[in-house]
Amino acid sequence: MIKPIGVVGAGLVGSGWAIVFARAGREVRVFDSEARTLETLPDRLRANLRDLAEFELIDNPDEVFARISVVDQLADAVGEVDYVQESVFERTDVKRTIYEQLDDVVGPDTVIGSSSSGIPASEFTDGLDHRANYLVVHPVNPPYLVPVVEIVPAPWTSDTAVEKATRLMDSVGQVPVQVRREVSGFVLNRLQGALLREAWALYEEGYASLEDIDKTVSAGLGRRWSFMGPFETIDMNAPGGIRDYAERLGGLYLDIARERADPQPWSKELIAKAEAERRAALPLEDLGKRSQWRDRRLMALSAHMADRLAADGK
Ligand SMILES: NC(=O)c1ccc[n+]([C@@H]2O[C@H](COP(=O)([O-])OP(=O)(O)OC[C@H]3O[C@@H](n4cnc5c(N)ncnc54)[C@H](O)[C@@H]3O)[C@@H](O)[C@H]2O)c1
Repeated sequence: MIKPIGVVGAGLVGSGWAIVFARAGREVRVFDSEARTLETLPDRLRANLRDLAEFELIDNPDEVFARISVVDQLADAVGEVDYVQESVFERTDVKRTIYEQLDDVVGPDTVIGSSSSGIPASEFTDGLDHRANYLVVHPVNPPYLVPVVEIVPAPWTSDTAVEKATRLMDSVGQVPVQVRREVSGFVLNRLQGALLREAWALYEEGYASLEDIDKTVSAGLGRRWSFMGPFETIDMNAPGGIRDYAERLGGLYLDIARERADPQPWSKELIAKAEAERRAALPLEDLGKRSQWRDRRLMALSAHMADRLAADGK
């Protein structure tokens, strides 16, 4: 019998995970320590499922919704389940406390993936009885629209747990990538961090406006990045492929990297200047509306990608 999946923490990311699993036909049990979060969960899920149906990304929102049950005890969410996805606050002490509680109530074979954005599992699972079953399974928000997940084992995570989490992610339509050993920020946020560092520096030095730096990505680099990564991109940007590209442009990139050898913090003044420019473009009270717009653009993109993959026979 296929067992349910437990979701612990039902905020932004945990509620998204519930949709990922239920959309794939799995029963889901969701727990959160805040009663108010559990009360608002059904409405949040229904709104997201309605949008997904509108973009033809799911056929039957009611069926998906019916697979998700809310429970008010941790043990009810994680007992007798196949896998648990933890998505509590990004704080080592909060993660440590919940893993100590989980360690007392989960079965000996239950694998637990943490949504941690950057804290490695070794910082909150050390010394626990079932620590070989615990690892990071880091999504992007919202996980039901952006499929990549970083699988990051602690030094003591078993190969079996890594394989089980990877197979599960594949089976529910996510795209797992393996980070072979722990590194802060994992791969995704290290890549994002490198781009952000250069973006802030160019802005601070007055080379371009915030808006134009954003456009360089949204109307430039990002267009390709929705279907191919930086290595495949450069393989096609020189007639002789990646080696030819490296020979032609390696020197330029080395000079740029040398210019940034002394990283500086994002200063208060710099942040205030960026904030003023962003708030002039988008008042704070419209941030939520714009996030909904972003999610709907992601839905349109997901629908397009699904058509493309079908056309490519993938
Ligand atoms: N927001 C993002 O863009 C994003 C993306 C990827 C990963 N993550 C990671 O996902 C995790 C959750 O982030 P979020 O953005 O959903 O935060 P959030 O604040 O929206 O949700 C966190 C939830 O955890 C609950 N919680 C806290 N302590 C708990 C406990 N002991 N037991 C049960 N529930 C508890 C809170 O009540 C809250 O509902 C973090 O590790 C975060 O870094 C976030």
